Amino acid sequence: MKPTDIKIAPSLLASDWTQLGAEVAALAQAGADCLHLDVMDGHFVPNISFGPQFVAAVHSQTDLNLDVHLMIYNPDLYLEAFAEAGATYITIHAEAGPHAHRSLRKIRDLGCRAGLAVNPGTPVQAFEPLLGEFDLGLIMTVNPGFGGQAFLPSCLTKVETLRDWRQAEGLDFDIEVDGGVDQKTAPNCRDAGANMLVAGSAILNSPPEDYPALIAQLRA
Ligand code: DX5
Ligand code: ZN
Repeated sequence: MKPTDIKIAPSLLASDWTQLGAEVAALAQAGADCLHLDVMDGHFVPNISFGPQFVAAVHSQTDLNLDVHLMIYNPDLYLEAFAEAGATYITIHAEAGPHAHRSLRKIRDLGCRAGLAVNPGTPVQAFEPLLGEFDLGLIMTVNPGFGGQAFLPSCLTKVETLRDWRQAEGLDFDIEVDGGVDQKTAPNCRDAGANMLVAGSAILNSPPEDYPALIAQLRA
């Protein structure tokens, strides 16, 4: 993977849900590489968002890859439903249960790309025993649950470590950062080795005519 191949994943959490189809079309038109869908269960994180039906609705509106971020306990119960809904990536949290290895295997068996995420308080070592078992490593740069929070720069050393491990092991998984990524913090994420940037408010808090320029700035 070339480090210059930066993928931008707008988070639909910040979109106007009364205009979902139009938002999805505008983001595709604006150059989004995939769409990030934040699934929250009200237990793993203190917020509830949406489930597989919402993902299926988005899938019906676009050919873009769907990057489904599960902030839920017991993810194994729902993997099949999200795969059927059209997820390309399904990311589980290392903190969501004792069986991340089994979940990652199951996600790949379902034909999806398997992602593993860690919260700001979780050490990067959570990835180490699972190297080779995931296609995407997600470093949270806020405490998950809400959009629009301030970026935590201390998380970037984890991005660097993950990049070094990827290189040392000759692997080619994506390294994604999520939370508080905007035109100011994106360069630091890219420098640390992230090639996939999630952005909610930095894109969707502006009118759709601004999406192309905002996405281009995050990528540049
Ligand atoms: C936080 C979510 C993020 C969120 C990002 O729990 O995982 O994907 O939507 O929103 P911003 O970019 O506004 O921080
Ligand atoms: Zn997310």
